[in-house]
Amino acid sequence: MKITAVKSILTCPQRNYIFVKIETDQGVYGWGEASLNWSEFEVMTRLEQISPLLIGQDPTRIQDLWHYLYARTYWMGGSISMAAIAGVDMALWDILGKRAGLPVYQLLGGKSREGVVVYNHAIGSTFEETAEQVAAFVDRGYKVVRVQVGEYGGVGNRPQSYAGERAGGSAYLEPTEYFHAGAYIENVPKLFQYLRDQFGMELELFHDVHGKLTPIQAARLAKNLEPYRLMFLEDPLRPEHRESFRLLRQHTTTPLGMGEIMQSKFDLLPLFQEQLIDYYRLPPVHSGGISEAMKIAALAEPYDIRSAFHGPDDIGPVAQAAAVHVSRAIHNFGVLEWADYNTATHEVVSGISTPRDGLAYPQELPGLGIDVNEGLAAQFPYTRVPTPMVRRIDGTMHVY
Ligand code: CO
Repeated sequence: MKITAVKSILTCPQRNYIFVKIETDQGVYGWGEASLNWSEFEVMTRLEQISPLLIGQDPTRIQDLWHYLYARTYWMGGSISMAAIAGVDMALWDILGKRAGLPVYQLLGGKSREGVVVYNHAIGSTFEETAEQVAAFVDRGYKVVRVQVGEYGGVGNRPQSYAGERAGGSAYLEPTEYFHAGAYIENVPKLFQYLRDQFGMELELFHDVHGKLTPIQAARLAKNLEPYRLMFLEDPLRPEHRESFRLLRQHTTTPLGMGEIMQSKFDLLPLFQEQLIDYYRLPPVHSGGISEAMKIAALAEPYDIRSAFHGPDDIGPVAQAAAVHVSRAIHNFGVLEWADYNTATHEVVSGISTPRDGLAYPQELPGLGIDVNEGLAAQFPYTRVPTPMVRRIDGTMHVY
């Protein structure tokens, strides 16, 4: 079996997705995904560079091809390379599964569980609105919900005294949210108090800080959240603040989840070794694919650190399918972030799984169990999707 073609498709039925198709001389083809929000053109260029290296190669030599692509670029690693390699890697696993006549999770060691627990986002503009959304997810069978008031700005963040900045100040080109760290730190525990009063202590809830706090602020928040038993606190710090993870850990028993904007096992390994986190977020699509995701899980397992793969809707359904297969197979699975896709995406990609009772299941088909309609994908060209920027209340640009 030989690889005869590698095609990369950039399409925007909902967000910008990059799908990778690898074709073989035996008619079997595989799909992978290399989506990387804000770096779509860079990833497409990297795929264009590495694709010729794959022509004529045996697609079943997944391990060797992974290391070939990784080492070949010399400037190894980085988010762009890892996404591009992930796209190729997933497609190779899809081919292997089709050739073996088995779903990919079977090739990874079989199922450790039937369904994988997924979570979705409740983001209201008030406690009441957030609670209504939580109730709706619970009605749909969700067992884990991420809760926010305002996605990035957070609770009670708009003191009137700063209104001038927003009314008369700079004309920002993109939607902007304002962040007041003091108000935020005081209000997040109140949100959890409100939700625990309504939903009890059993429901798994957690919150994403989006790396907006200083280390000592993060420590204070995590400590104040202890009575509300979060499943974990997500991204309390920027990944650059590696030293500060020790400080944070020493101050709190709130579990910590981290790593969605990290890039490889090399970023996560020190956090694992010192047991500074409880859940890792780096998904297969941003860490080099299924092969690397299995290795990262194995590195985390002896420390009882579990997966919580990043999976918002700027990661598409092929990568989601790969994450479901990995999540079903690995022993130390925790939870999987779930994105619901629109009708257009369901038309472009077939085989997207729909969670039942808060659990997602892979397709019981050979390979990843998904297919992409190339003709239809071409009808949804790249589109610039505005995402909010965050500023401090005085107008200072916030790092995240
Ligand atoms: Co996050």
